[in-house]
Amino acid sequence: MSVLRDDFLWGGAVAAHQIEGGWQEGGKGISIADVMTAGGNGIPRRITDGVLPGENYPNHEASDFYHHYKEDIALMAEMGFRSFRTSIAWTRIYPNGDDQEPNEAGLQFYDDLFDELHKYNIEPVITLQHFEMPYHLARKYNGFMDHRCIDFFVKYARTCFERYKGKVHYWMTFNEINNQGADPCAHHMIQEGAILTTDDNPDNERMMYQSSLYELVASAEAVRVGHEIDPSNQIGCMIAYEPLYAADCNPESYIEMTEANHKRYWYMDVQCRGFIPNYMYKYWDRMGFDLKLSDADIKALKEGTVDYIGFSYYMSQTVAKGENNPHFNFYERKNTVNNPFLKKSDWGWPIDPEGLRYALCVIDERYNKPMMIVENGLGAYDQKLADGSVDDTYRIDYLKAHIKAMKEAVAEDGVNLLGYQMWAPIDIVSASSGEFDKRYGFIYVNKNNKGEGDLSRSRKKSFYWYKKVIASNGEELD
Ligand code: BG6
Repeated sequence: MSVLRDDFLWGGAVAAHQIEGGWQEGGKGISIADVMTAGGNGIPRRITDGVLPGENYPNHEASDFYHHYKEDIALMAEMGFRSFRTSIAWTRIYPNGDDQEPNEAGLQFYDDLFDELHKYNIEPVITLQHFEMPYHLARKYNGFMDHRCIDFFVKYARTCFERYKGKVHYWMTFNEINNQGADPCAHHMIQEGAILTTDDNPDNERMMYQSSLYELVASAEAVRVGHEIDPSNQIGCMIAYEPLYAADCNPESYIEMTEANHKRYWYMDVQCRGFIPNYMYKYWDRMGFDLKLSDADIKALKEGTVDYIGFSYYMSQTVAKGENNPHFNFYERKNTVNNPFLKKSDWGWPIDPEGLRYALCVIDERYNKPMMIVENGLGAYDQKLADGSVDDTYRIDYLKAHIKAMKEAVAEDGVNLLGYQMWAPIDIVSASSGEFDKRYGFIYVNKNNKGEGDLSRSRKKSFYWYKKVIASNGEELD
């Protein structure tokens, strides 16, 4: 008998901007993902001043799911998927973000997509904002620095909840809302909050906290509205969970670790509990940040707590006390150190399956809410062999170890886990680097970093492995 529930939501996850392409089709507007150039392994992406000629914007075509979705969903159904997580591109629904009326062609695209999933009994799990706010909102309002963006987001969310009532039950508001918390760099600030800034702007951290507060209000308002429209809606947060370990058993390292956790996870505290924790108020006082939040905003936070906790898990980080750091103020780029116990991926991401069990336990202890692992996977350089096959045993090994740890958390620690969506069942554009050759999929897409290839799809070795895993409800991992 399986340790997982019978209706466990096995599946995979992607995001609209990384898979769809069709950036100008069906009346879609320009999103912030459309102005991000391709970077590389260790080479950051650039954010350009609008869409400029001669630049390479990998999200414009991505995997062309916009035209291939039927074929792709059929392949996922062949693997036995019970759920598929994707996002709605805000710019397909409200091309500028502040439009009066929604765009019918965009709404229809997702109606067709959700119908296609239901044809195979695949449950859609939908994120409303996955790193792609309308570019117009960034230009005109500086994104979530402006309180009006809360209303724009809630209007967009309402449109989606009303339109897809009965078709979508599992929602999430903002993808990895907490990434900016420990690293207020331009990349995170534009992805998560549509703030047009540069890495050397000394005001980044204050702006990041201000816009994060408004995003949290927008998220809470959306949760409240979503419940009003359909009380059976399950609406979650989405957190990038990276357990932060202390580098040694020096008690000071544990204090540093605690402070580091505050910075990454205060978002989850607010979304699950409905109020801002004292430690954040203290930090903002210490830093002299005068942040705006009205009584109505505070009330909204209280009334919009989430039903479940969605989180991504790729890696853990290890923290050490920096010099001249009397308050143990953590900054991800300065205070993380190598963990000698862990191997790393080709992109330097520490591989730590036990950390997933640890994450499940900690989140369960803190909030006692249902959880869903909505991303977990390995980005790797795959080689297509002469016969067209891809032997991605390393991907199978990675996923196997993580699924095993996940099952232990269920069997031994009793965590309430709703599902597991691996990232990403089909090759798509990398969010951090913009590469296509950083592949995660069970399904190979014939395209490379230069954009060459006919976009044809084929099954990797891991495709057959995952099919077996789902069919046995996680029992057959070898
Ligand atoms: C998560 C994001 O951070 O990690 C995804 O939610 C992203 O959008 C995934 O694709 C993997 O990261 P990357 O940079 O390898 O694509």
